[in-house]
Amino acid sequence: MKQEIMTIVSQKQLAPRIFQMTLTGELVNEMKKPGQFIHIKVPRADLLLRRPISLNQIDQQAKTCTIIYRTEGDGTKEFSMMTSGDKLDVMGPLGNGFDVDCLNKGQKAFVVGGGIGIPPMYELSKQLKQRGVEVIHFLGYASKEVAYFEEEFLALGDTRFATDDGSFGVEGNVGNLILEAIKTEQPDAVYACGANGMLKMIAQVFPDQPNVFLSLEQRMACGMGACYACVCHVPDDETGTKSVKVCDEGPVFRASEVVL
Ligand SMILES: Cc1cc2nc3c(=O)[nH]c(=O)nc-3n(C[C@H](O)[C@H](O)[C@H](O)COP(=O)(O)OP(=O)(O)OC[C@H]3O[C@@H](n4cnc5c(N)ncnc54)[C@H](O)[C@@H]3O)c2cc1C
Ligand code: FES
Repeated sequence: MKQEIMTIVSQKQLAPRIFQMTLTGELVNEMKKPGQFIHIKVPRADLLLRRPISLNQIDQQAKTCTIIYRTEGDGTKEFSMMTSGDKLDVMGPLGNGFDVDCLNKGQKAFVVGGGIGIPPMYELSKQLKQRGVEVIHFLGYASKEVAYFEEEFLALGDTRFATDDGSFGVEGNVGNLILEAIKTEQPDAVYACGANGMLKMIAQVFPDQPNVFLSLEQRMACGMGACYACVCHVPDDETGTKSVKVCDEGPVFRASEVVL
């Protein structure tokens, strides 16, 4: 993990409130694993805490990394007003990322993303494909209007869509797509990032599958394991005192390791 002033190469809006930003800098040399994130300082003196955003793409040759983010509050709104050539203070890469080494050529992965949990699944899918893994994507959005990156995932392989209002793909949440798929297909690993309810449902659908990897979101402060702002409880903890830190022990955990 390092800190660097990175330069914005490009920024574009993909959908209402959804932006894609590409950054360049030496820090990219450190970025290897999908599911890791960067911790970005908001260029505003009154906003002290950095904002964690997942890596969406890593390009070692071009020395660039890409993030996709949704504007929520002041920090991400500030990011959205920046343009190419502007600088950002970035710490990273942080977190342990998704385990791709557990799968080999010819095996099958279910890659599941919901809403703003979709961005890190793209780099993950690219790396799985490079290993010769067969990937099926299950992507859930609120509606067609806020859908993004559909073509990019389709270009990587089988991609199935769900929207809450039925305006694109199957109506309902992404869980409906998974329940339909497992009638005929069994994955060797499942990877997911999205709302807690979605992650919980996935853990319940695959209780006996050891390779279910969930990327959790918690509010973070330091991002480096020092402040305990981001803890998550673990199973079989009778005293209720054991926990893991999402920033440095996660954000990706096996489903069996955490209580959602
Ligand atoms: C490991 C990790 C990876 C993430 N990756 C992405 C990503 O790829 N794209 C993306 O759009 N967002 C991502 N997030 C969420 C993102 O960090 C928050 O949306 C962002 O920090 C909000 O900052 P803000 O200043 O705009 O909003 P704030 O004013 O700080 O808050 C606005 C709203 O966002 C919520 N929020 C703030 N911080 C977090 C947080 N850390 N986690 C969850 N909710 C938060 C608040 O509860 C509030 O409702 C990620 C979060 C984590 C922990
Ligand atoms: S954010 Fe400080 S320990 Fe995780």
